[in-house]
Amino acid sequence: MQIIIYDNAQLVAQSAANWVKELINKKTDPVLGLATGSTPISLYKQLVEQHKSNNLSFKNVTTFNLDEYHQIDPVSSQSYRSFMTEHLFKHVDIDVNNTYLPTCAVGENPRTQGLAYEEKIKQQGGVDLQVLGIGANGHIGFNEPTSSLSSRTRIKTLTQQTISDNSRLFKPGEQQPTMAMTMGIGTIMDARYVLLMATGANKANAVKDMIAGGVSAMCPASALQMHENAIILLDKAAASELSDQSYYQWADNENRKLIEHYGYFHNY
Ligand code: F6R
Repeated sequence: MQIIIYDNAQLVAQSAANWVKELINKKTDPVLGLATGSTPISLYKQLVEQHKSNNLSFKNVTTFNLDEYHQIDPVSSQSYRSFMTEHLFKHVDIDVNNTYLPTCAVGENPRTQGLAYEEKIKQQGGVDLQVLGIGANGHIGFNEPTSSLSSRTRIKTLTQQTISDNSRLFKPGEQQPTMAMTMGIGTIMDARYVLLMATGANKANAVKDMIAGGVSAMCPASALQMHENAIILLDKAAASELSDQSYYQWADNENRKLIEHYGYFHNY
């Protein structure tokens, strides 16, 4: 794991945008894994700005989102499709036909849909860089604690904590889904690079379990300890429970020399 601690959330987003930008500029047909939630909104803002000012083009980019609510109408304002349209897709030159979410509409079989999503990712050559947030309970995607560490795209029941964490996004009277389709932990682990962003003190315990705890299905993000290229971008508040911060800072300084020489994707 490469753990990088920044002074604030804005710098986390800037750094994440640099990774994404370098991938897009480096590969002719980049495949990006995307996340929703509050954390990546500032990343998407940066990417939109770069698109408008620096001609960062998404023309050849294919995207696969981590998750989508079960049986939600894609045009509903609460769908993750709508989230992505609002925060990224409608502002850049991406071909929407190349943007995928693990949907499961009414009448569709979640198992068939999950297998089809896995197949689609494979057909596109796999995910190059998967953007991730982390839940306060350590979830990645909607892989809640106890999810199999080798799980694939499938339907999951959300925990009460996740339902209550996300309730802020639903207006009074709106029905909040309790199930979602999500890439599995095995699916996420197949990405060539994973880029996890965590900001704010409410993530500090989950971040500590992910980095310094044992690998356990009780903290799904801890599976990233087994990933060859996991980059963890934290602000100070999210890093506050880590005891080895000075080592991470020092290693980051050393790593910058490699990045200057070989670029971000020096393992690619
Ligand atoms: C979103 C997702 C979730 C979020 C996590 C953190 O697609 O898969 O795992 O990344 O719940 O959400 P925020 O960023 O809202 O704290």
